[in-house]
Parts: sequence; C-alpha cells; structure tokens
Amino acid sequence: MLNTSVNLAGVQLKNPVMTASGTFGSGAEYSEFVDLNQLGAVVTKGVANIPWPGNPTPRIAETTGGMLNAIGLQNPGIDVFVKRDIPFLKQYDTKIIVNVCGKSTEDYLEVVERLADEPVDLLEINISCPNVKEGGIAFGQDPKAVEAITKAVKAKAKQPIIMKLSPNVTDITVMAKAAEAGGADVLSLINTLTGMKIDIQRQCFAIANKTGGLSGPAVKPIALRMVYQVANAVSIPIIGMGGIATAEDAIEFILAGATAVSIGTANFYNPYATIEVVEGIETYMKQHNCEDINQLIGIVK
Ligand SMILES: Cc1cc2nc3c(=O)[nH]c(=O)nc-3n(C[C@H](O)[C@H](O)[C@H](O)COP(=O)(O)O)c2cc1C
Repeated sequence: MLNTSVNLAGVQLKNPVMTASGTFGSGAEYSEFVDLNQLGAVVTKGVANIPWPGNPTPRIAETTGGMLNAIGLQNPGIDVFVKRDIPFLKQYDTKIIVNVCGKSTEDYLEVVERLADEPVDLLEINISCPNVKEGGIAFGQDPKAVEAITKAVKAKAKQPIIMKLSPNVTDITVMAKAAEAGGADVLSLINTLTGMKIDIQRQCFAIANKTGGLSGPAVKPIALRMVYQVANAVSIPIIGMGGIATAEDAIEFILAGATAVSIGTANFYNPYATIEVVEGIETYMKQHNCEDINQLIGIVK
C-alpha cells in the first residue's frame, strides 16, 4: 500500500499535488476535466477585500517555453468568493487553500478575518502584490516588510498560513527566513519572474502593462534552485512550483525539498496535468520501491 499523503502544518493532504493560484479559477472551470476529489488541494485564485478590475488588456502573451501575464489580480472580492466559490469547493473531498491578496496590511487582514469561520484549510498569502502605502514596491521584496506582514496575518488567522514568496529578489533565502521569523507555517514558491516581450511588427509592448510575470516550463530550473536553497535555509514545509508540467518535474521538486507541489501554467495547455502528475508520482514510487512519499522529500543534498 503506497502512502502518498503529506502534512502541511497539521493539515493532511491525500497527495502532494495541488493547483497553483490563478491558473485553475476556483476549480469550477476545470471540474469537467479533473475529478477534484483526486487532488491534494485546490488553491484558489487570489481574492481581495473588494473586487479588483485587473490591468488593461492585452495582459497575457506566449513566450518560448512559457507565458507572461499581467492580469493584475482581477477578482470579484471576498463577498462573492465566500458565497459562490467556497460552497462549490466544499462538495469535494479535497483541501481548500485560499490565496489572499491586498494593497495594504489592512486589506489582507480584512480577507483573513472574513475567512476565519469558513471551511477553509489553509491560507496562502500572496506578497507579490504592490504595497500602495510603501510606494508600490511589493511586500515580498523587503525582508522587514515580509516579516511584518507575516506577523500581522499570523496574529489574526484562524487557519495555518502559507507565505508565497516572490522570486524577484537577490536572495530568496533572506525572504524565506523573514517569513519564518514572522511565524509562517508553510512557504510556497515561486511566484512569477518579471519579464517583457515586444511586438516587433506593431513596435509596442506585447502586454499593456509593459512587463508581466513569466511562468511555465521556462522557469523550472530557477524555481527548483530556489526551492532547494529555501529548503536548506528554513525548517518549515515548502510547496514548490514553477514550470511543473509532469510527474518527473514534480518529483524533482520533492527530491529538492518540497513537501507538496503546485501545477500552474501547464493547466492551460493540458487540463489533465494535475491528474497525470498524481498518477505519475504513484508510478515512480512503485518503480523505486518507495512506500511512503515522505521518504523522498529533500533527499538530494
Ligand atoms: C494567469 C496567471 C495568474 C496567476 N494568478 C496568481 C494569483 O492570483 N495569486 C498568486 O499568488 N499567484 C498567481 N499566479 C502565479 C502562479 O500561482 C505560480 O506561482 C506561477 O505561475 C509559477 O508556476 P507555473 O510555472 O506552474 O505557472 C498566476 C500565474 C498565472 C500564469
């Protein structure tokens, strides 16, 4: 009997495979393709205290081995989310992780407090959002801000908190340690890498926002390196993501130190990607005579 179950801050997932925020809606869009009962967890798109309209279009562009996006965290706000999306997800036997965004500490806290009595298993705090009070620099790019926002959220949250780290920093281990010092229960990484594309025929930026976040297979080696570095710098569990498209990719992240993995951009071109990763991990475990997935976590030193 294979044990694929992993533990994140006391929450037991049936397997380590989850969706990456913003690439799977709140599950409904994909439920025709994917039996959500088979996933370790569904991570929702980012939700803020009020509806956000997002950035002007065009806001996505294809790149070699990946994509750029500058959606701008468009979302319907916490009121709609609580009424519409949580009851949908509750029908399934999977863990619910809500991704939270905000432009100020108060914005984050409002969402976290609204979710306190909801049937949500974990909160994932996206600190790549621009901090309007600090002139627009993302919370996640300054270790003092990372520690402060983590502490503030931890003090109010009823559920364990996952701090989602930005890779757009010189040394991600500094941010990881700051989040751990602030009381984070789990870390997730990576969010997208800032990039650019120019349309040479129209001689303009491919994305109205000029820059966008790069994701997909192109970022995988960078994401894997960062997961490895962070796994060796902190003692809390890590959710690894960035370019995972196959079970082989997921296993690399687990061997590097990730307790769980998220599938993002791959869902857009292969809606079955998550299920293929779940099945492929089991096949790998059988081939390698591994009875418990926990024996694989971080064994490549
Ligand atoms: C279209 C799109 C929307 C995203 N929206 C969010 C979001 O709302 N919150 C968040 O924390 N990350 C968001 N992300 C980042 C992903 O969750 C993930 O961290 C990143 O894309 C790397 O994984 P991947 O290469 O498997 O896509 C988004 C990514 C994409 C491509």
